[in-house]
Amino acid sequence: MKIAVVWGLCFICGGMALATQSPLTQSTPSSGSVVESAQLAKGRELFKEKCARCHGQQGQGTRIGPALVRTPHPLGGYKTVAGLFNYVSKAMPFDAPGSLKEEEYWAVVTFLADANRLLPDKKVTLGPANAESIRLDIYPSP
Ligand code: HEC
Repeated sequence: MKIAVVWGLCFICGGMALATQSPLTQSTPSSGSVVESAQLAKGRELFKEKCARCHGQQGQGTRIGPALVRTPHPLGGYKTVAGLFNYVSKAMPFDAPGSLKEEEYWAVVTFLADANRLLPDKKVTLGPANAESIRLDIYPSP
């Protein structure tokens, strides 16, 4: 009988701990909350490092490389994220094709999709499993 009461209390405490924990971890503004995937953050950095010297810091284009981020965006011809990945991972950087790791190509492609407002959710992680289903031949209004 006594044991049952103790277990009951533990159960309630455990439930309360869980209930109070999840909103806290979700709403802490600075460090706790996830506003975008690690992949997207990494892609932004990699773009500056590996692509910006030809395509511009914001992807706006330079005399060497065409704009990759603008309105309307120039990625519709690739149809889906998979199409863009295939092109970029084979052909870019123009002077060193295939020199990034596969995960790095996914990251820059994620950055390009997001910068053109084509990513359904900043927290989504792109890869072979969902790349076909994320369309690039749509044009968000300015
Ligand atoms: C040395 C300069 C250079 C670098 C570095 C470079 N690019 Fe390019 N990029 C180009 C040029 C030039 C073209 C046009 C190629 C063509 O028309 O055949 C191009 C074309 C592209 C296109 C096609 C654009 C369109 O309108 O279809 C994409 C996408 C692209 N680059 C992505 C990237 C990414 C991502 C990186 C970094 C991993 C990168 N590029 C690095 C020079 C560069």
